[in-house]
Amino acid sequence: MSTESDTRKSNVLIFFVNGKKIIEANPEPETTLLQYLRRKLFLTGTKLGCGEGGCGACTVMVSRYDRQSSQICHYSVNACLAPVCSMHGLAVTTVEGIGSIKHGLHPVQDRLARSHGSQCGFCTPGIVMSMYTLLRNEPQPSIAHMEKAFEGNLCRCTGYRPILDGFRTFTKEYCQMGEKCCQNQAYVQNQEEGTSTRLVNGEAYLPVDSTQDPIFPSELQTSDRCDSEYLVFHGERVTWYRPNSLTELLDLKAQFPDAKLVVGNTEIGVEMKFKHMKYPVMIAPTHVPELLTVEHTEQGIRFGGAVTLSQIDNELKSAMEKYPDYKTGVFAAVVEMLRWFAGYQIRNVAAVAGNIITASPISDLNPLFLACGAMLQVQSKANARREVKMDETFFRGYRKTAISQDEILLNILLPFTTKNEYFCGYKQAYRREDDIATVNAGMRVVFEGNTNVVKEFTLAYGGMAVVTVMPTKTMASVVGRSWDDSLVSDVCGSLADELPLSPGAPGGMAEYRRSLTLSFFFKFYLTVLQQLQAKHVPLKSKVPSYFQSATPTFHRDPSKSSQVYQEVAPGQLEQDPVGRPIGHLSGQKQVSGEAVYIDDIPKLHNELYLAFVTSSKAHARILSVDPSEALAMPGVVDYVSHKDVPGHNKWGAVFPDDEEIFASSEVLCQGQIIGAILAEDQVHAQRAAKCVKVEYEELEPIITIKDAIKAGSFYLAPKLLSCGDVDTAFDQADHVIEGESHMGGQEHFYLETHATLAVPCGEDGEMELFVSTQNASETQHVTAEALGLPANRIVVRVKRLGGGFGGKETRSVVFSTPCAVAAHKHGRPVRVMLDRDEDMVMSGGRHPFFAKYKVGFMKTGKIVAADVHLYSNAGMSIDLSSAVMDRAMFHIDNAYKIPNLRVRGYVCRTHTASNTAFRGFGGPQGMMMTEQFVSDVAVTLGMHPSEVRELNLYQEGDRTHYGQELKPCFIRKCFDEVVRLSGFHRRKKDVDIFNSENRWKKRGITVVPTKYGISYTALHLNQAGALVHIYQDGSVLLTHGGVEMGQGLHTKMIQVASRALKIPAEKIHISETATNTVPNTSPTAASASSDLNGMAIVNACQMLLERLEPVMQENPKGSWEDWVKAAYFKRISLSTTGFYKTPGIGFDFKTGTGKPFNYFSNGAACSEVEIDCLTGDHLVLRTDIVMDVGTSLNPAIDIGQIEGAFMQGYGLMMMEQVKTSPSGMMFTRGPGNYKIPGFGDIPVEFNVTLLKGSVNERAVYSSKAIGEPPLFLSASVFFAVKEAIMAAREDAGHHGNFRLDSPATPECIRMACEDQFTQHFPKPAEGTYQPWFVDL
Ligand SMILES: Cc1cc2nc3c(=O)[nH]c(=O)nc-3n(C[C@H](O)[C@H](O)[C@H](O)COP(=O)(O)OP(=O)(O)OC[C@H]3O[C@@H](n4cnc5c(N)ncnc54)[C@H](O)[C@@H]3O)c2cc1C
Ligand code: FES
Ligand code: FES
Repeated sequence: MSTESDTRKSNVLIFFVNGKKIIEANPEPETTLLQYLRRKLFLTGTKLGCGEGGCGACTVMVSRYDRQSSQICHYSVNACLAPVCSMHGLAVTTVEGIGSIKHGLHPVQDRLARSHGSQCGFCTPGIVMSMYTLLRNEPQPSIAHMEKAFEGNLCRCTGYRPILDGFRTFTKEYCQMGEKCCQNQAYVQNQEEGTSTRLVNGEAYLPVDSTQDPIFPSELQTSDRCDSEYLVFHGERVTWYRPNSLTELLDLKAQFPDAKLVVGNTEIGVEMKFKHMKYPVMIAPTHVPELLTVEHTEQGIRFGGAVTLSQIDNELKSAMEKYPDYKTGVFAAVVEMLRWFAGYQIRNVAAVAGNIITASPISDLNPLFLACGAMLQVQSKANARREVKMDETFFRGYRKTAISQDEILLNILLPFTTKNEYFCGYKQAYRREDDIATVNAGMRVVFEGNTNVVKEFTLAYGGMAVVTVMPTKTMASVVGRSWDDSLVSDVCGSLADELPLSPGAPGGMAEYRRSLTLSFFFKFYLTVLQQLQAKHVPLKSKVPSYFQSATPTFHRDPSKSSQVYQEVAPGQLEQDPVGRPIGHLSGQKQVSGEAVYIDDIPKLHNELYLAFVTSSKAHARILSVDPSEALAMPGVVDYVSHKDVPGHNKWGAVFPDDEEIFASSEVLCQGQIIGAILAEDQVHAQRAAKCVKVEYEELEPIITIKDAIKAGSFYLAPKLLSCGDVDTAFDQADHVIEGESHMGGQEHFYLETHATLAVPCGEDGEMELFVSTQNASETQHVTAEALGLPANRIVVRVKRLGGGFGGKETRSVVFSTPCAVAAHKHGRPVRVMLDRDEDMVMSGGRHPFFAKYKVGFMKTGKIVAADVHLYSNAGMSIDLSSAVMDRAMFHIDNAYKIPNLRVRGYVCRTHTASNTAFRGFGGPQGMMMTEQFVSDVAVTLGMHPSEVRELNLYQEGDRTHYGQELKPCFIRKCFDEVVRLSGFHRRKKDVDIFNSENRWKKRGITVVPTKYGISYTALHLNQAGALVHIYQDGSVLLTHGGVEMGQGLHTKMIQVASRALKIPAEKIHISETATNTVPNTSPTAASASSDLNGMAIVNACQMLLERLEPVMQENPKGSWEDWVKAAYFKRISLSTTGFYKTPGIGFDFKTGTGKPFNYFSNGAACSEVEIDCLTGDHLVLRTDIVMDVGTSLNPAIDIGQIEGAFMQGYGLMMMEQVKTSPSGMMFTRGPGNYKIPGFGDIPVEFNVTLLKGSVNERAVYSSKAIGEPPLFLSASVFFAVKEAIMAAREDAGHHGNFRLDSPATPECIRMACEDQFTQHFPKPAEGTYQPWFVDL
């Protein structure tokens, strides 16, 4: 018998993409929208950055016709999580749909490109789509609203400032006066003559024209067919149902009790992708009316279970305007919590029921729902509708609730509050925006009438157990008591007992989490007391004025900034682009999604996909590998291992045979490659790789630097650098102190993960490799050796990288070589692009460092001696670790003259992924240790650290500890200039006043200088080549050895060639970097690529000009084209190579003589911060940077590098914590649990000035290298935070020095602000427990 739903049943997916109708019969339910867009529709503008909703690179706009309101709704969505099946009846707009170079860019794209807001471009399409969606909903948003639109987007390159600046032009506050706006005047007044603040030509902005926006498909508006169909899609492993009524939904759930209900897929999607869960039946309840209603009742507002978090947010905000304040206490707390809940892309699709039913112990909403006693209605086919109260009995165990498996959560009632009721929510995370909570809480108190006597009291905490918990004993103990100060210590004592955490509890940070439970309560106590005071309720205790700032919710003013640089000399030719802020050459392609990265190359005929089989152990012998199950799976072609390497299975970046390509008998770290599965596509390759069985015999691993020291596990003998007579100087010093410091590592988190496409050419073993690498030549040579071929058969081609930062300098070879081996074996193209979690586990990162130091100094603050032992964690192979240590040792002086200095460097061998180059290359770690002891000196003497820094700065003509003379030396000039521009001395006084008036918020301000040596410390790498072809039409094809990874190298090189050839930049093109055009290239690294390649280009161009000279003289009034034509007919070669090697450098460690660096880049920064002493939260209020870039080749690119490096360094020092278990298992595997800075983390005021009048004879056109030197300036934030903590400790009676390691996460800050709350939780001694994660 056919039922109503049978007649409406459909197995055809219908939706629109960029206005085009897509019809797909029986779509695969496991396919995401992103996979569909990229693989099926070849719309590769939308990028895969993480696959878990955490980076926003995949953002698209989805539009829906809302039949109830007769309105079209537009919302941003993460295409990597959205199942394509959920798109039925919707319209998707991707970056390609709003504009293109051919048909004209959309103003959002245009302004982003013009404002220099795209560097590597991998994040860019997602950022464009977030902004575009905002504008579709709000054509003129406020600045505050605009800044919030990017909570769900990450960028690793730009430092965000230029993106916000570009988009600020769409806001209602934007002043058409641009940089002449009076708001900018204060800073600009300090500006010297001949400088400019204009990086962007705002007059050329394309105007907004909404008539050009894609039109919502009328078919979806006029017909409700798509909304009313009962969808059933059968896939390979999963069936997808989308019923339309509650009865159908209940029937399905009865039939498939284990079925998952999918609304946003933000939990299920992550579980399936990363936890490899299988859910054979998925039911989308998104069209069941009962789950979509919003109803205002006497008791509160009832939300259907499938109502999204964005809808709840909007509804509660309007309710807060409609109802009196006292009724909306819970609503306000939920709205505040949603402010910090994921990003828009997640909140737009994630539903409230999903949050409750997932029952995550760190759910942000569940503590609020428990604390307010929210009421749920649930129903199953077997049982009638019933009400369930969310109270202490609701969560029954890890991810278990009082709702049974076959029940559907219909709705939730959020109650009104009453007149004497107060309600608050709290959340603390690593990063404020889009981060999961470390601890969160909901708190509620009801008083008897107009008194302070507690009638009801509820507390609920997340992050303290396997479920959201209510400390019921504490709750009961407060009822009947007065709300006064005596309550605080009693509640704290009771909470400390009732919310225990063992020191090694999962998640770690036990003492911090426990302290937060008390801090939150204390904040709640003060907040309520303030409100009682305001209502004139008789009280015994009052909130002292210096406690007031503890309670307000977080506020951040819209960001502002300035960029000041030296204009080109008045006489410079108009066509000469050197020194001008011209935009990134690929900018337009990047903003329109047209820029091609490896995985955007269309699938080739016969192509296979590769998925790695990796070690799950840190150290083990491989007993057996059994791929048989995997080989029997659909689509699988082969398993490849060390047995398939025709040449040599070992390689080394510096030292030969440093590591194996495929591990043969022993694995040395988690994530080491053992083999690889080849299959017809990615899905099947990855699925099968998980089924390869590896048997191990586990061996004892060495994980941390301390483990390595204990075991004597080092690579090479320790190195030594020294000057003066250190021991005598210690004897003569007024003070000698000793200390230790640890600095954590850092994940590169380039937005494009490692990727390779290896294409065998079919003849003579020839192969072309398209690789996301900074090091084309190394890739070529290792591939050739592995294949047993001469290097001349292998061509490596690199168009662009979606970020590198050192992570693709050598480690790209780890992934490209197996790919080449597989392609060689099968004679078929093979592609691989790592998933984010694979990339993070397998590819290594910045070296963690540990230092033991002894420093001698005089009463004046003058440092006379230092003796430092530096240890780095190199991981399972030496890779570049020796050179990284060299640079750390060379930079141990930072910017200070320490006349007697000794530094020893030990490179530790451990069983972690091999650590490698990372922007700064050990320099920041060395300098950080110096700044640690400079700070210790200052505390010992009671001086401000900035005074000690100033006192010890190098002077012109001084020599470093390795004997290199500093001439010219711009360190002091940068320092003085930043002190002046930032108003440091005045603001320091303001900070002192603020600190004396506030107990629980403290500020700190400090100035930190930097000096960074430019050159590869490996001498042979200081060479470069270029190839310049001039074609008959006068156009020039330029090729050089450097790789474009977002840093604007190609743009700068075209500027250089333009000046050298005296032709406009438009005539010059760079296509790619390839080993068959410029051979034997050095990696694009060490900040030196502009210097080296620029000089090689000048060399080539000069030769060509010399050849053209005769034809120019024959026709002096001729054009470039005339000369080129004439030269061609005269048979003059119009093509040549250029070469350059840096003269006069080289250092010999054995003798301690020589000159390691070509020159130095200098800078100084002043940062002011505010910390929340109770939670460890912080805000950077202002940063001023003065950077010496010589004569800038391109101020827009240089300032972009400074801001980007600063924010990356900020992440290193303040936020990014790599977490690894004591047995070597990495926990931090994606943006969900590894936080890089987001938009909301940039300094509220961010001023960058390029030092005027700096010259540099030693690099191309007097410029200086810029990629790495500014990174360390972020230490100004770290040490300003240390100042603020110091002030808090003083208040609590803790005088003198204390140790603060990097990164200074909220945990470190909070626990350093020792007080009556942290006192409850002393840290147990090391070795008395097994920690959850360890400092590597
Ligand atoms: C990048 C990212 C950031 C996040 N940030 C946060 C955060 O800051 N705070 C936080 O708390 N969470 C966060 N989450 C977790 C997640 O977004 C939320 O839990 C969200 O509310 C889940 O809703 P959903 O609709 O996507 O659930 P889905 O994944 O669709 O479903 C989740 C579960 O709920 C069940 N379910 C759904 N509806 C019903 C129903 N009506 N009846 C019975 N069962 C049902 C499903 O069967 C499934 O088991 C984040 C997730 C991601 C990916
Ligand atoms: S790829 Fe989708 S959010 Fe990162
Ligand atoms: S430009 Fe944003 S990640 Fe590179």
